[in-house]
Amino acid sequence: MAHISDYDKFEYNYEKYWENRKYEDKAEKIVLENYYKHIKGRFFIDIGGSFGRHLDIYYDKFTYPIILDYSLKTLQRKKKDILNKYPNTILIAADAYNLPFKKNTIDTTMMIRVLHHLEDQTKALKEIERISKRNSHFILEYANKMHIKAILKWIITFQFHNFSTKPYQQPNQNNFEGTKNEETTVFLNYHPKHIREQLNDLNFQIKQKTNCSFLRMNLCKKLFSIPIMLKIEKVLQKTLSWANLAPSIIIKSVQNNDKGYIKKKNEKFEDILCCPICKSNLDLEKNSAKCQECNKSFKKAKGIWDLRT
Ligand SMILES: C[S@@+](CC[C@H](N)C(=O)[O-])C[C@H]1O[C@@H](n2cnc3c(N)ncnc32)[C@H](O)[C@@H]1O
Ligand SMILES: [Zn+2]
Repeated sequence: MAHISDYDKFEYNYEKYWENRKYEDKAEKIVLENYYKHIKGRFFIDIGGSFGRHLDIYYDKFTYPIILDYSLKTLQRKKKDILNKYPNTILIAADAYNLPFKKNTIDTTMMIRVLHHLEDQTKALKEIERISKRNSHFILEYANKMHIKAILKWIITFQFHNFSTKPYQQPNQNNFEGTKNEETTVFLNYHPKHIREQLNDLNFQIKQKTNCSFLRMNLCKKLFSIPIMLKIEKVLQKTLSWANLAPSIIIKSVQNNDKGYIKKKNEKFEDILCCPICKSNLDLEKNSAKCQECNKSFKKAKGIWDLRT
């Protein structure tokens, strides 16, 4: 079974990570605002959406904006704040490897800063393909193995094997995202070719690709104010995205599989839920659910469905 980066194990508070990263946050928002300009729909899932950092961008676009995350504690901690500002948001604890949604039901899926935690990317991406409607969008961010600083480092240190398309586990120095210092975490950086192949294999056709966070360097942060950095970032995103030199890459793709004729109208959130394990229908009660096939039971914990396997 693939390892899961369980943020609850060490009570990791991911929101704190963003306290001094305004530039990185806004740099992503520049990309996403552009990507979402022509997107709207019924069901949307922010996989690994945590405390809803990008809710401001997608909330108004969908009837059912869903934040799905393995960290039940994060969702429980943030529920009140999120619902105060974005009342229609649905929070659900689940595992990206075992999504609790029926096939061909989702209009847009997004996964930002999560793929680096997924040891078995193929399994998670297959799940996303399964739940995606034909012509639905999938917006994916990944950590780029081929960014300029890494390339220079590998040349200087003669680590030429790192130029392969194999995912690269980032060393743990100063990086304990989701854990405490003593515990190693899965933190994979990907070769753009590897991601392209994975998406192609699952019929996600890449429509746009943008490099992001070009100036993620202490020196830049010392030299420039955030507004200046963001002005430069905008220019670099437009002119240099082809080169894949930034540490983060965001892709907008469309699901092209022929999924046959699907007649579904005005489904509600409960209609698209299924057993995350065997994908059969659930018998849903107000605060509990049971799979009709495998009999596995699930509960709502403080108002949030816990559909983790
Ligand atoms: C680095 S954070 C990114 C959060 C958010 N997407 C953002 O960009 O602000 C990674 C998130 O992925 C979640 N996560 C990790 N593995 C997961 C899995 N297998 N299924 C669902 N969520 C997962 C973690 O709980 C965490 O909230
Ligand atoms: Zn089941």
